[in-house]
Amino acid sequence: MERKDRVKKLLAGLQTEQKLRLLCGNGAWRTDDLDGLLPQAVMSDGPVGLRTMRKGADGREETIPAVAYPSVQVLANTWNTSLAREMGAMLADDCRERGVNLLLAPGVNIKRHPLNGRNFEYFSEDPLLAGEMAKAYVEGLQENDVGACVKHFCCNNLEYDRLHQSSEVDERTLRELYYRPFAIACEAKPVSVMCSYNRINGTYASEYEKGFEMLRGDCGFDGAVISDWGAVRDRCAAAAAGLDLEMPFDEKNYKKLLADYEAGKLTDEQLDACAGRVIDLALRLEEMGKGKKVRSAVSERGDAAKCIAAEGMVLLKNDGALPLQAGAKVSVSGCYAKPDDARLLAGGGSSQVEWAKNAFDLPAALSACGFETVYEEGFGIDTIWSFRQDVRAAAENAAGSDVQIVCVGTGNGLEFEEGDRRSMRLPAVQEKAILEAAKRNKNTVVVIFAGAAIDMSAWIDDVNAVLFAGFPGMGGDEVLAELLAGKRNPSGKLSETFPLALTDVPAANASCGAGATLYREGLDVGYRYFATYGVPVLFPFGHGLSYSDFRYADLRLKEENGALAVTFTIENTSARDGGETAQLYVRPCAPRVYRPDRELKAFSKQKIGAGGSVSVCCRLERSAFAYWSASRDCWTVDDGVYEILVGASSVDIRLCGKVRVENGLIRVL
Ligand code: BGC
Repeated sequence: MERKDRVKKLLAGLQTEQKLRLLCGNGAWRTDDLDGLLPQAVMSDGPVGLRTMRKGADGREETIPAVAYPSVQVLANTWNTSLAREMGAMLADDCRERGVNLLLAPGVNIKRHPLNGRNFEYFSEDPLLAGEMAKAYVEGLQENDVGACVKHFCCNNLEYDRLHQSSEVDERTLRELYYRPFAIACEAKPVSVMCSYNRINGTYASEYEKGFEMLRGDCGFDGAVISDWGAVRDRCAAAAAGLDLEMPFDEKNYKKLLADYEAGKLTDEQLDACAGRVIDLALRLEEMGKGKKVRSAVSERGDAAKCIAAEGMVLLKNDGALPLQAGAKVSVSGCYAKPDDARLLAGGGSSQVEWAKNAFDLPAALSACGFETVYEEGFGIDTIWSFRQDVRAAAENAAGSDVQIVCVGTGNGLEFEEGDRRSMRLPAVQEKAILEAAKRNKNTVVVIFAGAAIDMSAWIDDVNAVLFAGFPGMGGDEVLAELLAGKRNPSGKLSETFPLALTDVPAANASCGAGATLYREGLDVGYRYFATYGVPVLFPFGHGLSYSDFRYADLRLKEENGALAVTFTIENTSARDGGETAQLYVRPCAPRVYRPDRELKAFSKQKIGAGGSVSVCCRLERSAFAYWSASRDCWTVDDGVYEILVGASSVDIRLCGKVRVENGLIRVL
């Protein structure tokens, strides 16, 4: 029998009270199985490793160690959808081993504000990049028989007062920026979506009927909508709006739901719709998992984590100190190089993973690469996140070495759920450590372990090179050493702009407080703003250096069945194998409505051998020229001329062509 018929049959056999139970979950991590009548969804966080609990020897709950993958930000910096699929596939095996069939991931919220405490869990400031990477991650999970839950719908872009804030956003901005990554991820048919805590234009996300209709209508989403943990205010109103499952079980809400149903506030049709979707979820997960086995060994998952870190670390600046010269004497400082606790290398909150292997030791990894390496902490962090500093010994090392590597960053005490970062700058102790090292060694290299943009104004001009390692996950020390040593070639590019200062970011100047956050900047988020207004940035969206040089050439535009085929070549003119991500932006030349100067419409990551070249082909559908028309209430493509920009970053445009769109037809100029 088909699943939808099974759902109908099961639903028809249920008492009203059983249906109502289905709407409220069972405990913290499961759906209600109605005393064995139904299979269960068993959930766990996500997104950078599995967070399951057990009772420890002392009777208290403890987290079971698991493979810790790089943060979602690092994954996004790879611009490699195959790696996102791979991470999903590996996580599916982690889940299967622990009896979890629904992973609460990935999170696709747009990075509107550099200080958002959860930016490390999210992909990008750009909806296409966030959506495509999330889609691949969902495919990887679900092809390997574990369900995904795409979160947090919608407009939870700061942690500040997240349970109450109303994100006040106009319809066009919602459509073009904030819904978009969900819409793209929905192409992978995720089994569920999680609503956020906040309100959207005054309505709690758990009661956001308009948004749920958009998901189920425009995006073809056919799964269940699940609440964020404790995000439901009024269970009956949420069910009426289309929120299928409240998590975790909340007795008070359940009792109120019963009373409201009896008072006629929820129709049987509404109840059946939600209960039916919860049954469907449970059956779908059961079907997916039937007879399926774990496919990879834990060591393979560790290897996958390393591949992601290797492609996701971004070389931001390099005046020649990197790669390290063979035989160089290297001195390393900063507790991030060799932390007592791996949590220093991760963001905090529900995504935090207990590392299966706690050791992270960059000095040892550099020694293993053949360098004479000395380490002196220089600065450290104690348990309550206060910093200690002893610059003397580290400074002596810096003076006596060929290259000085200073490891700085944030960690779970500075980047975490339920709070935002206070500053985009590194703590003063760390800035001082960098400046002291730079005074003594002209080959000072800064390695940053963080999950979001950093203001480097205090020291960037004093140092030779900067490598953004992000939160690199297990095995990140080996990968990092190999990148520094030139055994691997950096190929990560920024999935978010690094502004010069926080005050340059429109969202940071928008009012936030008194229960409402005005998204007054509208579409002017990230590079859309900086490119349109010509505001200088520290490192632009899409920027990332390599030890190779790439030459772009031979741009060809061709109409193909109503779409535009864009082909060009990239040549690796260096003597090293490398990787390059080409980015395609569309710029409307004389727009009839406000349009950002350029918008990312396609990207392609290529591995290119030394001296070799590849031909890249991207296809732009008509929708690549569209915007959401507020007056017509639909996606619209205006006639006119558009530039096709092919770039190595959002500002480093290498090739440019033009097309005219007329009556919906694309003509190459
Ligand atoms: C977070 C979700 C998470 C859930 C369950 C919430 O606080 O916002 O992302 O999945 O907790 O841990």
